Amino acid sequence: MVLRRPLIVGNWKMNGLTSSQSELQAIVKGMSVAPAYIDAAICPPFLRIPDFVRMAQGSRVLIGAQDCHTQTSGAHTGDISAALLADSGAKLVIVGHSERRMDHHETDSLVRDKAIAALSANVMVIVCIGETEAERDAGQTLSVVKRQLTGSIPDHAKASTVIVAYEPVWAIGTGRTPTAAEVAQVHGAIRHTLETRLGAEGKAMRILYGGSVKPGNALELLAIDNVDGALVGGASLKATDFMGIVAGVPVH
Ligand code: PGA
Repeated sequence: MVLRRPLIVGNWKMNGLTSSQSELQAIVKGMSVAPAYIDAAICPPFLRIPDFVRMAQGSRVLIGAQDCHTQTSGAHTGDISAALLADSGAKLVIVGHSERRMDHHETDSLVRDKAIAALSANVMVIVCIGETEAERDAGQTLSVVKRQLTGSIPDHAKASTVIVAYEPVWAIGTGRTPTAAEVAQVHGAIRHTLETRLGAEGKAMRILYGGSVKPGNALELLAIDNVDGALVGGASLKATDFMGIVAGVPVH
């Protein structure tokens, strides 16, 4: 049996004024007494990264970003490279979030190039995939997810540096979640696709579920086969909610 360390990641999106530092401090404190087999990370807006890295220094909370450019440096006004992230102490980056795929027209191949850029800068990468409501209604969930996986995950991806997040678009920020059986079906299909392509690395790769995860449903979602953690938006902004989700991780 492969042991995959559960990982709970907070995606703060475009939230996190300087006044929110106390929430990060409370998460750092909470994680200092959480079971040792659980990993945690917070991905604030770029501007907060240096301060958050300092505050989380020496703790188990990794600080990450929500996007990066495909290039290391150069004439790309307004963009942030993975090299800049690494230089600021970020240890991971989310790429291909559905909000970026929609708002910034990001394609699978762009997402893959961003993932490659992150890995070359020694930054771990969380690659997001997930179907829209129309695609689910049309019975296309598994084909969409497989296409996104194939297009967005770099060749030779390793379980130690690449993480997949399955986030049904219709479940993000809506309070709606798929049933446990639906999550199990999609995560099982993702695992199969990863194993077929990457062998043992695909077996060991963590697959997070994301979309309206909160303390009240974490226990059920995190107990599902092939759910190795959660990518949490809204409920990660408050330390008490974030720690409530960490408390839902099954005992290992
Ligand atoms: P949510 O967002 O938890 O607010 O639904 C999840 C995400 O977009 O990563």
